[in-house]
Amino acid sequence: MSDFAEIIYDGKSYQLPVVEGSEGEKAIDISKLRGASGLITIDKGFKNTGSTESAITFLDGEKGILRHRGYTIEELADKSSFIEVSYLVIYGELPTQEELANFKNDITQHTLVHEDVKSILDGFPSKAHPMGVLSSLVSSLTAFYPKSLDPNRSVEEVNGTIIRLLAKLPTLAAWAFKNRVRQPLVYPNNNLDYCSNFLRMMFGLPTEEYNINPVVANALDKLLILHADHEQNCSASTVRIVGSSHASLYASVSAGIAALWGPLHGGANQAVIEMLENIKADGGDVSKYVAKAKDKSDPFRLMGFGHRVYKNFDPRARIIKKAADDVLEALGIDDPVLEIAQELEAVALKDQYFIDRGLYPNVDFYSGIIYRALGIPTDMFTVMFALGRLPGWIAQWKEMRENGDPIGRPRQVYTGHNERPYVPMNER
Ligand code: CMC
Repeated sequence: MSDFAEIIYDGKSYQLPVVEGSEGEKAIDISKLRGASGLITIDKGFKNTGSTESAITFLDGEKGILRHRGYTIEELADKSSFIEVSYLVIYGELPTQEELANFKNDITQHTLVHEDVKSILDGFPSKAHPMGVLSSLVSSLTAFYPKSLDPNRSVEEVNGTIIRLLAKLPTLAAWAFKNRVRQPLVYPNNNLDYCSNFLRMMFGLPTEEYNINPVVANALDKLLILHADHEQNCSASTVRIVGSSHASLYASVSAGIAALWGPLHGGANQAVIEMLENIKADGGDVSKYVAKAKDKSDPFRLMGFGHRVYKNFDPRARIIKKAADDVLEALGIDDPVLEIAQELEAVALKDQYFIDRGLYPNVDFYSGIIYRALGIPTDMFTVMFALGRLPGWIAQWKEMRENGDPIGRPRQVYTGHNERPYVPMNER
């Protein structure tokens, strides 16, 4: 098989190299096409464009495969912990016992945030969405760690930033929530594991003991693993493109949080529960909403259905669906919204519209149901996604910088006015 592709345009032929990934995926390298032919390629939403080569996550949307550094998501969710998966995703290998102990210890030592962060937090109205607060607070960390702004920062400095981000994001996330409910802040307790510490800062009060429910802490750990990375999605691409200008890791992650916020990406988990509650309040007629989703004159979409890359099933959704059943049973919760979700899934999966377009429940369809069961308020759902996705953003940023990727700067096909003379105000 040839290792180049040929483009014939205007009677001339251009040979373009074909690159192959370790799982046999092939791509035409068009980086020299414009220089040779004057042509660029156009692909709105990058539906068919690889922005980089990456060794972090392999995903086969047709077969429903997701692997981090070669390990399947099923095995990681079953056997690993979020901190171990974070190490794997960021540094490329599963840690030895000693490496894991050091990594955990480093993270534990950095969970406190500078006291001045509290005055920034105080400036937000209580109605502020916690995703906006989180993105701002993460960006504000550049002010407390100005060395992170140095584009020629050392490996040690970058590692310090990685540890600080992993350590402080749960503190900032819990504090964003405390600001929302106008409760006193709870400081981290370094005797607790990552998820238990977060739960205590979220739900505890400084004056009272907080009993961690291990079912809740374990379920949260699994949810975070399932969100750890997902290759070149909207927020990861944002992190990479911001970082490609040599902006700091804090600034890049802050931008990633903003990208994740939207309802077509991480914000879908909040949108799913809101949709299910609306259906319930409207009498529970699931077929009415399926019909609305199919009606092209109606902007309504079934939130939690469909995925840019999974066109068969989302392997994370399968694991989450099972976890949702387990959590609800263990906590003895009977959530009427779950019944609507199950009914909606059953109806949509049989419907030709959804079959033809490969629209299946995605990771966000069931995650909201677990978050509700864990007592997490709806507008914190996407923050939970951000906590889980953090190692992925860090790994993507680190890989991009280590590989020396150039600044991200797409081209365009201009469709506006041709040159025209300025029109004075009195002639308009
Ligand atoms: N409900 C109804 N129709 C849909 C839906 C949906 N949820 N998703 C896609 N379609 C239709 C769409 O109208 C289009 O139909 P047609 O070919 O007749 O014009 C077709 O399916 C393809 O849709 P698309 O918008 O071109 O697909 P995309 O790859 O650009 O969008 C998506 C992917 C996830 C943005 C989209 O499926 C969607 O909006 N889903 C709902 C939001 C959601 O659950 N997002 C979370 C994604 S998973 C978490 C994450 O990783 O971010």
